[in-house]
Amino acid sequence: MTTRSDREEVTTHEAPAGETISQVIERRMNRRSFLQFAALGAAAVGLGQVAGKVTLAAPAAASGFDAIDPVGTFSAKPVLPQNYTSTMLVRWGDPVVKGAPAFDPKKLTKAAQEQQFGYNCDFVGFVPLKEGASDTGLLVVNHEYTNPELMWKGYKASKTTKDMVDVELAAHGVSVVEVQRGSNGAWKYLPDSKYNRRITAYTPVKISGPAAGNDLLKTKAEPTGTTVLGTLNNCAGGKTPWGTILTAEENFHQYFANVDQLDDKDPVKALHKRYGLPGKGTERNWESVYERFDVTKEPNEAFRFGWIVEVDPSDPNSTPVKHTALGRFKHEAATISIGPKGQLAAYLGDDERFEYVYKFVSKGTYDKAKGKANSALLSDGTLYVAKFNDDGTGQWIPLVQGQGQLTEKNGFKTQADVLIKTRLAGDLVGATKMDRPEDMELNPVNKKVYLALTNNTQRGTEGKPGTDAANPRAVNRAGHIIELTEAGDDPAATKFDWEIFLLCGDPAKEDAAKPETETYFAGYDKTKVSPIGAPDNVAFDNEGNLWIATDGAPSAIKYNDALHLVPTEGRERGHVQQFFSTAGGSEVCGPEFTPDNKALFLAIQHPGEGGLFDQPTTRWPDNNRNLPPRPSVIVITHKQGKVIGEA
Ligand code: FEO
Ligand code: CA
Ligand code: CA
Repeated sequence: MTTRSDREEVTTHEAPAGETISQVIERRMNRRSFLQFAALGAAAVGLGQVAGKVTLAAPAAASGFDAIDPVGTFSAKPVLPQNYTSTMLVRWGDPVVKGAPAFDPKKLTKAAQEQQFGYNCDFVGFVPLKEGASDTGLLVVNHEYTNPELMWKGYKASKTTKDMVDVELAAHGVSVVEVQRGSNGAWKYLPDSKYNRRITAYTPVKISGPAAGNDLLKTKAEPTGTTVLGTLNNCAGGKTPWGTILTAEENFHQYFANVDQLDDKDPVKALHKRYGLPGKGTERNWESVYERFDVTKEPNEAFRFGWIVEVDPSDPNSTPVKHTALGRFKHEAATISIGPKGQLAAYLGDDERFEYVYKFVSKGTYDKAKGKANSALLSDGTLYVAKFNDDGTGQWIPLVQGQGQLTEKNGFKTQADVLIKTRLAGDLVGATKMDRPEDMELNPVNKKVYLALTNNTQRGTEGKPGTDAANPRAVNRAGHIIELTEAGDDPAATKFDWEIFLLCGDPAKEDAAKPETETYFAGYDKTKVSPIGAPDNVAFDNEGNLWIATDGAPSAIKYNDALHLVPTEGRERGHVQQFFSTAGGSEVCGPEFTPDNKALFLAIQHPGEGGLFDQPTTRWPDNNRNLPPRPSVIVITHKQGKVIGEA
């Protein structure tokens, strides 16, 4: 880090003209460290010695593996460091429910797909069957969407049939599969497990919380507004301390057609527009088969999507629950943290350009002895939206009906209105428009929260919001990561400090004439890091190292998507090291560790995207000319059984 110890420098924060983003970040950090140091009574020990950051005791970085070189987008197959091996665990079409038929790509049917592993796996949650166990557990996997052009030869949306739509609906949702590490260290899934389950776009799901039963959630087919068929576009998610998982409904807008045909005086039209529902037909054309996907026939069905959904994998007969208290938007993460006073916080992102970061804080407190009854915490609490101030501080602004602008006059008659129209509430309270909030995770060691902002090429372009301190790069192609420190390390706090941790990109291709190419790695020597683009899903290992999976590296930095490790403390803080390069056309999801960190699950989503069924860009993982590419979950282990990240 640049050290600027003179006090004039550290107490001002106006950006002088011509300063780079990295210089602004370092100046802000120095200033805040100065204030922290002063608050700690630095004056007593002599201010003359203040020189930048207050350094706390930091764990040693665990990483010992040799980073791999980034891999060009021509490469069809995954690449791992020396001493590591990957095992195919479960692929699209593999039997999940006991008795399910084998995969037959020439004969896809709803009946088979409802019992088989779904398409485009994203979030992966490992739920041990015994507390803390690492050898056996339930893997809960999201199926975000389908690539019909890779599922059927000659696919055309305009010619889609009911049978095809039914397969796609059944290929969405969630899978639960039991997995096991054998005595030889090899992982497998158990096709006959009693826990195995498919949740699809047909599965009845309960609507819970303050918005349940609201008029906007009622449809002709379901006039109570309390039950909905299925869950759609399940992207990232999270796990609860009571053994359930939270799955996030992200880009639900894309399934609902014809908003332009609604009457301009119908308030539902403006609401659907704010959430980006297509004006005309959808890309998949499901509306030609099912009325619920046509807003002119069923205007309210879309309000029943865009929620956080809780699934109990230990009970295959349980009904999933949409928790309306956590708001409605294009949900990405759902990371739970329990505060020192027992309150539960859930960190939530809305993944679209210029959308917001949210946090839900429960009213009640977590009680381990109550087990699954703790789920009630997700029905009663306060939803907050984040405001990032330019000086590195921030507020969580409560979204509560009747407070501030959230009045009946402004369209918020009850709290249900706030929760169904969450984005509009965020607009009114002055939340900060971010560069596509994706995953957010809590560092178990330093207690800071890390937020991946994947990219926003529209930032600072004509007619769009300009840069701000938290989104400092115009035409932000490669994305960035923010490190957020809650006041008192309490996830229930309403104030926080924040800092830019990484400005992603390829430091070897920086060009002073193009500010959008500037990179920053928490002050680490940029000549020693791996290039990284479009951070998406993140996870921590037990040492507090951040693992970053990417989605969009090919367009950001011209390399295949990847998984990287970066230490967050100590001398290695900011040292991004590439661990994995994925199959052509795919993004890397998960990532998820077993509690002992000796197995790492990755979901390889949409391999072959960009091609067609008979001309895919890869046939990974089967590499068989009679089989299409298949989204799959793989498990990575060290050949000598060491912790992931070691040499
Ligand atoms: Fe489905 Fe925001 O990634
Ligand atoms: Ca994502
Ligand atoms: Ca994650």
